[in-house]
Amino acid sequence: MLAKHVLILGLVYVLAGCGTQLNPDFSVVSPDSRIVFTVMTDGLGRVYYHVVVDGETTIEPSRLGFTFANAEPFLAGLSVQEVSRDERDDTWEQPWGERRFVRSHYNESMLDITDGERHVGLRVRVFDDGLGFRYEFGDDFNTGELLITDELTQFNLADHDSLVHWTEAFNEERYEYQYNDGKIADIDVAHTPLTAKLSNHRYVTLHEAALVDYSSLVLRRGSADTLNTELVAAYDGIKVRREGPFTTPWRTVQIADSSVDLLRSNLILNLNEPNKLGDVSWLKPGIYMGIWWSLHTGEQSWEQGPKLGATTEEAKRYIDFISTHGLDGFLVEGWNVGWTKDWWKSKENTFSFTESNPRFDLEEVAHYARDKQVSLILHNETAGDVEHYEEQMAAAFALYERLGVQQLKTGYVDFANGYTRPLSSKGGREFKYAYEWNHGQYVINHMQRSIEKAAEHKIAINMHESIKPTGLRRTYPNFMTRESAMGQEYKGFAPRHTTVLPFTRMMAGPFDYTPGIFNLWYKGEGNSERIKSTIAKQLGLMVVLYSPMQMAADLPRFYEQKPDLFQFIKEVPADWEESIPLGGEIGEYVVYARQQRGTESWFVGGITNEVGRTFELDFDFLGDGEYTARIYKDGADADWDTNPYSTVIESIAIKSATVLPIYLAPGGGFAISITKNSNDEGSL
Ligand code: NOJ
Ligand code: CA
Repeated sequence: MLAKHVLILGLVYVLAGCGTQLNPDFSVVSPDSRIVFTVMTDGLGRVYYHVVVDGETTIEPSRLGFTFANAEPFLAGLSVQEVSRDERDDTWEQPWGERRFVRSHYNESMLDITDGERHVGLRVRVFDDGLGFRYEFGDDFNTGELLITDELTQFNLADHDSLVHWTEAFNEERYEYQYNDGKIADIDVAHTPLTAKLSNHRYVTLHEAALVDYSSLVLRRGSADTLNTELVAAYDGIKVRREGPFTTPWRTVQIADSSVDLLRSNLILNLNEPNKLGDVSWLKPGIYMGIWWSLHTGEQSWEQGPKLGATTEEAKRYIDFISTHGLDGFLVEGWNVGWTKDWWKSKENTFSFTESNPRFDLEEVAHYARDKQVSLILHNETAGDVEHYEEQMAAAFALYERLGVQQLKTGYVDFANGYTRPLSSKGGREFKYAYEWNHGQYVINHMQRSIEKAAEHKIAINMHESIKPTGLRRTYPNFMTRESAMGQEYKGFAPRHTTVLPFTRMMAGPFDYTPGIFNLWYKGEGNSERIKSTIAKQLGLMVVLYSPMQMAADLPRFYEQKPDLFQFIKEVPADWEESIPLGGEIGEYVVYARQQRGTESWFVGGITNEVGRTFELDFDFLGDGEYTARIYKDGADADWDTNPYSTVIESIAIKSATVLPIYLAPGGGFAISITKNSNDEGSL
């Protein structure tokens, strides 16, 4: 095995531009031998890694290392030794997810980097779909609290002409932006996941896995178009504070031959630890509706007054509707005390997470939901005030558990992408308030505590304004879904946005996008504020944009008006046996087939950007026998701009040999539910 695993290194690499000579020290090769990760050092003892795919350099030599506020830098004068090697090929089962079984097949090398006194481990895992590496700190740095001022990890993409898709970091609305596309030279500072389409048509996604007790990785472009790690700093400029032995998150590079291959990657999940919560059969993926969209369109309000949405009566009306139509969950926002008009601006957070507004009887609604077998999803808007929330978390979660509430939507809306925390506890500093980003270690640690505390009470979380996903749902399966992207609540974005998401943000995990809006001109026909989508695309999104808690976001009356289309929402599940990307190109279109967990039923969703197109749908993913496909697609005259409601619904017989051209209108899409015919022994 070792012979295949180890690359024989006789070459010396000369760093372009500066003539620095690099000596390749160790390589790790993917199981299929196509990806080679090599660690190198130069004459000054600086350490680099470099990645070659099919003999082509994909990542140029990129630096590794750290600087600290209270220790000597770990950047130069270093040498590298290999400590151990391993090869693993396991298949593990997800309690819920896009697929039940996930194969994890990799070669690993554990390296020791030392300056002669101190040691930092570098653990490298190379899979067929990419690689991850992380730093492992032992006791050598035990200064009490080690203060990291910089992590030097670079990601120097070799192809500077790549078409890169990214969102800008350190912006007011967190991750909630449409994606930029351009050259590396156009980037200033970017969030991950960042996806590049290389000139050779290969795809690379840069991200991180298992972000725990550390700051978020963002990438700042350096001179010569390098992409340099910039960890999100705390109020005082320190990037990370850690004690004792610890490991950093994995730095990840997903690599694929095509856009569709990229969507097949399980790398981020595979780099996370197995489930730590034990039996999680209490987690229930499903489709939910809620007192929510009406708040965003202005028809109802969070705050008290004539338009208050969250009343006992209104909640029961929703629960009745959800139960009648066999959906799973009911979200209520505005149920609790503290919703003032300018709640997100106020420094005095008045939210209570245990007390209901006077017109909402929590006990009664919880019992009503339980009787009707509808999962009540309570909303906790923290306004970014994590300390205020932590004071109440234990009591609130205990109350919810007693009431049988198993799902929670939390939120961290704030002034400008962070939390201003009182510094009194820190003492001696000259300013009263400290600014903490939502993506820095301080807030990330709070979010993690909320997940673990919720798990103790058997509560699943859908987190808004959340830290981006890094695959922690494997370790904490109750962290089911989140926002961390521009979702439908932004309403007016271009049709293209949703066709970028699967290849970027969703490479990291599920997204509470909130699809399923039927009343696209929600402020009246012809208004400028509207959803730029056809109605068929709204159904397609429910399959394409995966979320185990998937919202059907519109109001009951709009579903009642279109029962034929609503039928799809009643049937589509949110938990899958398998998911197969059938086609797609970043920013253009995406088609997914997904098999419902534990059944022979399949659902297909397709979405397109502003451009209409015909997709040749090959049903070869089906097993033997005959199936009935109910197709919801754009009419020939449909167009997101001029005619979004034109839809054709038809049922046809199909089998695995069927190939069907399906038209997607500009800004359009389609959805299909497929059931196996039970009495197909007579089929020829
Ligand atoms: C922002 C969330 O993303 C949204 O879904 C929620 O309704 C509002 N905050 C109010 O908390
Ligand atoms: Ca939001």
